Amino acid sequence: MASPNAIRRSGLLCLLSLLISFVSFVEPRYVMLNDNKLNKANENVFTYSKVAMLNRPEKPTKNNFRFEMDQIEQLYGPANSLQCTMDDSARFDCHPDTGAHAAACEARGCCWAPASTLKVIDVPYCFFPTNYNGYYLDQAKNTESGFSSRLLRPSYSKSGWPGDVFELQLEVAYETKTRLHFKIYDPNNKRYEVPIPTPKVTEIPDALAYGVNVIPNPFGIAVFRKSTGAVLFNSEIPQAPLIFSDQFLQMSTATGSGLIYGLGEHQNPFLINSTWKQFSFWARDVFPMDNTNLYGSHPFYLGMEKDGSAYGVFMLNSNAMDVEIQPMPAVTFRTIGGILDFYVFTGPTPDDVIRQYTEVIGLPVMPPYWSFGFHLCRYGYKNSTEVQTVINRNRALGIPYEVQWTDIDYMDRYLDWTYDKEAYGTLPDVVKNLHDHDQKHIIIVDPGISNQYPGSYAPYDDGVKAGIFVKNATGQILVGSVWPGKTAFPDFSHPGAAEWWYQHANNFHKEIPYDGLWTDMNEPSNMGRGGSTVGCTNNKLDKPPYTPGIRDGDLTSNTLCPSAKHYEHNHYDVHSLYGHMEANATHAALQRILGKRSLVITRSSFAGTGQFAGHWSGDIASSWEDMYYTIPQMLNFQMFGIPMFGADICGFREDTTEELCVRWMQLGAFYPFMRNHNDIHSKDQDPAVFSANAQKAMKLALLLRYSLLPHLYTLMHDSHISGSAVVRPLFFQYPTDKNTYVIDRQFLWGDTLLISPVLTQGQTVVSAYFPRDLWYDIYEGQKIVGNGSAVQLQAPIQKINVHVRGGSIVPMQQPDVTTVAARKKPFGLLVALNVSMQASGTLYWDDGESLDTDKAGTFTSIHFTADKDQLTSQLQHVGYRSEMTIDSVRVMGLSSCPTSATVNSRDVTVYCHGETKV
Ligand code: NOJ
Repeated sequence: MASPNAIRRSGLLCLLSLLISFVSFVEPRYVMLNDNKLNKANENVFTYSKVAMLNRPEKPTKNNFRFEMDQIEQLYGPANSLQCTMDDSARFDCHPDTGAHAAACEARGCCWAPASTLKVIDVPYCFFPTNYNGYYLDQAKNTESGFSSRLLRPSYSKSGWPGDVFELQLEVAYETKTRLHFKIYDPNNKRYEVPIPTPKVTEIPDALAYGVNVIPNPFGIAVFRKSTGAVLFNSEIPQAPLIFSDQFLQMSTATGSGLIYGLGEHQNPFLINSTWKQFSFWARDVFPMDNTNLYGSHPFYLGMEKDGSAYGVFMLNSNAMDVEIQPMPAVTFRTIGGILDFYVFTGPTPDDVIRQYTEVIGLPVMPPYWSFGFHLCRYGYKNSTEVQTVINRNRALGIPYEVQWTDIDYMDRYLDWTYDKEAYGTLPDVVKNLHDHDQKHIIIVDPGISNQYPGSYAPYDDGVKAGIFVKNATGQILVGSVWPGKTAFPDFSHPGAAEWWYQHANNFHKEIPYDGLWTDMNEPSNMGRGGSTVGCTNNKLDKPPYTPGIRDGDLTSNTLCPSAKHYEHNHYDVHSLYGHMEANATHAALQRILGKRSLVITRSSFAGTGQFAGHWSGDIASSWEDMYYTIPQMLNFQMFGIPMFGADICGFREDTTEELCVRWMQLGAFYPFMRNHNDIHSKDQDPAVFSANAQKAMKLALLLRYSLLPHLYTLMHDSHISGSAVVRPLFFQYPTDKNTYVIDRQFLWGDTLLISPVLTQGQTVVSAYFPRDLWYDIYEGQKIVGNGSAVQLQAPIQKINVHVRGGSIVPMQQPDVTTVAARKKPFGLLVALNVSMQASGTLYWDDGESLDTDKAGTFTSIHFTADKDQLTSQLQHVGYRSEMTIDSVRVMGLSSCPTSATVNSRDVTVYCHGETKV
């Protein structure tokens, strides 16, 4: 006799076939209902031709199809025996909270069984059965841009979490050819949704690169690449049900290959280990370390498919969450608030994915030219005289040096928008001195506003008047404790907060004419574990039924009470957006104050923060290991749409060593944002304190960077208008070369330069991977014919290995001590020929600081092409007129030395190296 469960399924199949015949007379479109009994857990490719296609009615009709689940239940009753047989790797955790045991597990309708191999401790003992009674699809109908449906959970089925939402709404929108958007929310109760603008699309584009497959019971949705059938998102896993309760929401996807990247901010190798891994998200002030939620929240990953195509998945949700990776391979998003709001991007190249992602979250801001210079900072300059001494001693070295920063030491009693008139009495002179030398000054500001001086500290008094501070659960200003002692916290989501912030930033700018702002401590950080000076409540926000695997296992730790009130939302929901909102207000204030581009560097970030700010990786240690981790971090932030990324060069915590600092300065010369910064407890690490040899090496790295600034600026502009990554992992350029998938000790600038730094103490030879292409040493031009294997490169202490890809033309400029001086110098072109003796490249050029040069057309863009023995420059746009001369062209890849050369028919001198033919 067939089991009740089997009977139940065959009943469903009959209904499905009825359905398919019901709608099959109309024009075929994209929705596919599939009665193939779901995918086997590890079968992640749809055979497109085999999938039963549900034709799509031309006009939306009500009740296009409907499942009478209640009737089915009445006939057959709920499933009564759990189907628990599956591989360990395919178990989805049904009890992620602590204290799992058999009875608790079974109470959730789940299976309890020890892992079959005891070695893998992460395998859940409590896991969902394949016949879990989850949501089913009901009343699907077409909409302007896709389709929608109700999702119902049988009333007898409980997730075990309080507040199951039994009726949900699914909205699926085919937003662009390469972007699918779907969200699942409660249609009867408005829940929190992330208040950032995302594009709205009302018309279905033609020729979608993806298809969507929906299975009705249990509900599952899959997105696949039409051309290959590869699965990009697949929740059609019966043992990974959708859970949607008030404070526990979960959705899983079987990932095609298990090759995924992203999910920040975390300290992790670049390729995510898909064995068993949990990433938790909740912005947090903490030293970067493994398995810990860090400063920002970017629930986005990029996946590589077996054929080298790439796709992306983004869950737009700012609540505390876990993302679990398991070897099936599968990814589970588990959040404790908001809604389930997903975007799937089809690429197909990795850089396409990033461009598609930034189209949703916002394109990166265009930083000013000067911000690509070298920045120097430390926490713990005792006074402004010391700052001037540091400036003088580094200036005296003649190194390229652009910006001097000051940390909280400059403030009076650590109060924002003040400076210490005694210790830092000469700060205005220091800033003037910097400006007189065409250098810049950036200051730190923290969000905590002291409440200790009412009546005499205007930022606090005005903030109280404007009502812009975060309130606690009972409506009083929430008081926490940061550097100045007790503080209130501005609510940057309040409509009056940006104006208040601007007013104080502007007033202070009149005293200290800073050029950029550094927004630190904005997770927001509140020292200690209480959430406020009087603690938090015991309500469901402060003590939610489930807390993701965040540090201290406590949402209140080192920040504000989740129950705290922002203008429209609870801190519980907007916590991880705090830095984002502050960066937005700060960017806007600077534009108003300066009327030109500026630089904001923020510690906390969210998806889209790149529109306003760059980011540095926080309080890393002066260690070789942490130096390495800055590369995967940098690559991640390129994918998160924050290309202006850097790390504290030479390390923040602990004393650096000369060798580490030299190597780090060399690596840092290839961070888009290059700043050497140090902790108060550590010894000085600015270039001037090291030996002449070390200084020489640092200077060489800086000169190389400055000579490449026109190229870096062009790459950044490209990122600003298209979202393209500035710094790229090797697989971005060589996506079918599987050897590149794990490489995170080398990286590329755009598609032109391959950087292979030394990352180990005592190392003077680097084993560097060279993908199949021609490569030339940037210094001497020696050729390497890349054949997909490692080459041993000499890396004496003075040298960082950089290779130019054959086929590129790199615009360069003679370096100088500041960008103002360098920008007046002649340009040079580095032409690296490919096997066909061709190359191309672009230069984007503007005044380096005006706002909206693209809109105004006040830029110049030049395209260079080389073919055999001829180099041509073509003006693509001329909107910025300045004197630009090219005084040298270096050609790499010639087989013999030319005897003559002409420029516009005029003879010019040729120098040729006998050996390299450069
Ligand atoms: C923490 C920041 O991460 C660090 O860079 C800074 O120096 C200190 N706060 C002091 O402001």
